[in-house]
Amino acid sequence: MARRLAVPISGTGSLLAAMLEQKVPVEFVLADRRCPGLEIAAQAGIPHTLLPRKFNRTFNRSAFTASALKLFRDHRIEFVAMAGFMTVFSAAMFAADAYKLKVLNAHPSLLPAFKGHHAVKDALEYGAKVTGCTIHYATAKLDAGPILAQEPVRVMLGDTVESLHARIKVVERELYPALLRELVC
Ligand code: GRF
Repeated sequence: MARRLAVPISGTGSLLAAMLEQKVPVEFVLADRRCPGLEIAAQAGIPHTLLPRKFNRTFNRSAFTASALKLFRDHRIEFVAMAGFMTVFSAAMFAADAYKLKVLNAHPSLLPAFKGHHAVKDALEYGAKVTGCTIHYATAKLDAGPILAQEPVRVMLGDTVESLHARIKVVERELYPALLRELVC
């Protein structure tokens, strides 16, 4: 029996779409903002919830994490694969009686290089000739946690953030679903 998987998203949902195309069973989708990825979940008939977060000082990370935890438990979720999800959960998500070593994240660089929300831009501005993508266990620290898989992507002359990120995403769309099929199926 496959482990029941939740996929948190914030953006276009292209990784979510790749998972579905590659027959990764997704039981629940969580979004932290209105985003096109929610439409992908709706069209696939996957239960989904928008748990909107604040983008100012009033954002309560612990309360947001507690709500997400409750949703995962309500949906009997056993494994979580963040796919372009832009909120870092607080430590409660990663407690031994919660989802410790059961939450994955995809990041568009070869970690530990270029952590953070501007990884592709930072790699380009640094002048890196090779960057790539990383799938790692998530922790309460941004883009830290044990690495499970990485693939390099060459930076080409004339690359923009968009063109480079697009090529990284092509690689992620193979790497992440393949790994998930091993871990949850
Ligand atoms: C990927 O590059 C991933 O590494 C990063 O967000 C991107 C996925 O976005 N965290 P989306 O699936 O197209 O919304």
